[in-house]
Amino acid sequence: MDIINKINKLKKEKNAIILTHCYQNIEIDEVSDFVGDSLYLSKMASKTDADIIVFAGVYFMAQSAKLLSPQKKVLLPNLASGCLMADMINIDELKAFKANYPNIPVVCYINSTAEIKAHSDICATSSNAIEVVQSLGVDKVLFVPDTYLGKYVESKLKNVEVITYNGFCPTHLRIRKEDVLSAREKYPDALILAHPECHGEVIKLADFVGSTKEIMDYSKKTKSKRFVIATEKGVCDRLNRDSKNENWSKEFILIKDNIVCPNMKHNSLEDIYNVLLNENNEIDIKEEIASPARKCIEKMLYIKSSKI
Ligand code: 13P
Ligand code: SF4
Repeated sequence: MDIINKINKLKKEKNAIILTHCYQNIEIDEVSDFVGDSLYLSKMASKTDADIIVFAGVYFMAQSAKLLSPQKKVLLPNLASGCLMADMINIDELKAFKANYPNIPVVCYINSTAEIKAHSDICATSSNAIEVVQSLGVDKVLFVPDTYLGKYVESKLKNVEVITYNGFCPTHLRIRKEDVLSAREKYPDALILAHPECHGEVIKLADFVGSTKEIMDYSKKTKSKRFVIATEKGVCDRLNRDSKNENWSKEFILIKDNIVCPNMKHNSLEDIYNVLLNENNEIDIKEEIASPARKCIEKMLYIKSSKI
């Protein structure tokens, strides 16, 4: 039996589902129940009645799934799957940041550890950060860890100052303004779609800015035939695959070679099979952290917004 059939058989036997982020190695989609961005996958984790969730993504995503489905077993196929941005702030650094700006609510990007969430007021993802900040009804917020997403949110809201921590995504920061300008020259008919973790100069020049899933949904529904993708390669690969399989006649070009998040590529089909078989690499979060961290994510899920 090949590995895909073996995984599907185990999934059935153990009442398990596989949630997959769209930066993962593309062959993982073959065994996945849901593929998407952080918000979509968090929602799927909170709704499922499966007993086991295998999270094909990075550590903070699996932690978020565990927070939202505490009674379920959440397994991360390969424990090397961290997020460089999430690791840019620890609890002492957060406390020092808050001490510099007392009495201002803290919005934490979902790309953060459970401990950071436990000490923040509300969580946000790349697809709802504007609505989340707006929902607070204040004129100043602290935003951790991503300075670029925070500044993007500020640019979209009148009268809210977003004071950002200095974290960033090294993969997205490899995309420079010059790359956008040369893509425009080379592909004048193409729309340029960027993730809000990109540098502000890149975001300003893009035709559309959104989460990974928003980029995918937008490019499917819009009439243009050619797109330059300014986010991780997995999004571009999936769009080209779907375009070919579903005859969209659309072309997706990665803005620059090798925009790859190495941490997202650790999980393999073999790892998925092994964690399902052995039920190891289980995510465990101490209750004193889990309880406030869960509230931080749930607050985000409960705010009134068309996106959430
Ligand atoms: P999305 O929520 O847009 O999928 O982003 C997650 C991420 O890590 C982007 O680098
Ligand atoms: Fe983290 Fe950047 Fe990788 Fe996203 S692309 S998981 S922000 S390191």
